[in-house]
Amino acid sequence: MNAIDVHGLVKRFGDKTVVDHVTMTVAEGEIVGFLGPNGSGKTTTIRIMCGLLTPDEGNGTVLGFDIRTDALRIKREVGYMTQKFSFYEDLTIGENLEFVARLYRLKPVEQYVARTLEELGLASRRNQLAGTLSGGWKQRLALAACIMHKPKLLLLDEPTAGVDPKARREFWDEIHRLAGGGLTVLVSTHYMDEAERCHRISYISYGKMLASGTVDEVVRNAGLTTFVLHGPRLDQVAAALQGRPAVDQVAPFGATLHVVGSDKAALEKALAVVEKEHKDVTVTPGETSLEDVFIQFMSGSKDNMA
Ligand SMILES: Nc1ncnc2c1ncn2[C@@H]1O[C@H](COP(=O)(O)OP(=O)(O)OP(=O)(O)O)[C@@H](O)[C@H]1O
Ligand SMILES: [Mg+2]
Repeated sequence: MNAIDVHGLVKRFGDKTVVDHVTMTVAEGEIVGFLGPNGSGKTTTIRIMCGLLTPDEGNGTVLGFDIRTDALRIKREVGYMTQKFSFYEDLTIGENLEFVARLYRLKPVEQYVARTLEELGLASRRNQLAGTLSGGWKQRLALAACIMHKPKLLLLDEPTAGVDPKARREFWDEIHRLAGGGLTVLVSTHYMDEAERCHRISYISYGKMLASGTVDEVVRNAGLTTFVLHGPRLDQVAAALQGRPAVDQVAPFGATLHVVGSDKAALEKALAVVEKEHKDVTVTPGETSLEDVFIQFMSGSKDNMA
């Protein structure tokens, strides 16, 4: 059974379609990354999946429960970490978790709280006020609060926004540990390194699902070619390349220039001209990155915030 199995989801706000026939399946124990520009419909899709919003069209199941008729059951079995999670800043870590345990009617409260503190390495900070925690610890507390009732599916909405790299890495180690224990995770993020830590990713833009698969599959299916340029005065080369029909992206990376295009032959032709005009510039084939692919997707779609 798939943990998430939804088909043709549509959600409109007024005359705006913000989720446009979204289909998604997530297998049990899988970690799936949900990516897409601001306003593309990630949060809205997640809210439909956890039973907080009813879709205008489409149907499906989450943990085997119908998203239209069993929303209450879904809410009980899912751990949802909202994009702007919050807790009581003037309560301690322990008190915040006790509060959540009572909300879920978990009994005995102390046992649930103690086990969760232990599991997430929060025990030594139990009596610290939540408001005095650093970003990484706040996020760990938020994760603790949403796994305490032992959900089978975690829906995490940008859980690591604004958290430093070390804390993010530890958070992801934790996610993998939880998935190893059988938990399924759907996690939205804007970070490429996080996308690469997922088993699979889905990319949504303007409400439409544009790509799904492993990172390698998504990069391969995008059909882009990348070249790396070395040499002096690359800023002039960049200016010359910018806007040529064969050239979709030009971006400086340190002392090199990455040039990306979807028509390999045309791109090679354009770069051959560069090599002729700038004798000291060398052109070598490069690897297309996931970020290159996403930038390409974004330039091809309408402005989501418009
Ligand atoms: N309750 C609502 N009423 C009207 N419009 C809404 C509502 N909720 C979301 N929207 C609009 O729906 C679109 C999708 O929003 P959503 O929050 O799902 O995007 P997102 O992909 O999560 O973006 P971000 O990366 O910025 O979090 C946006 O244009 C947003 O303004
Ligand atoms: Mg969002």
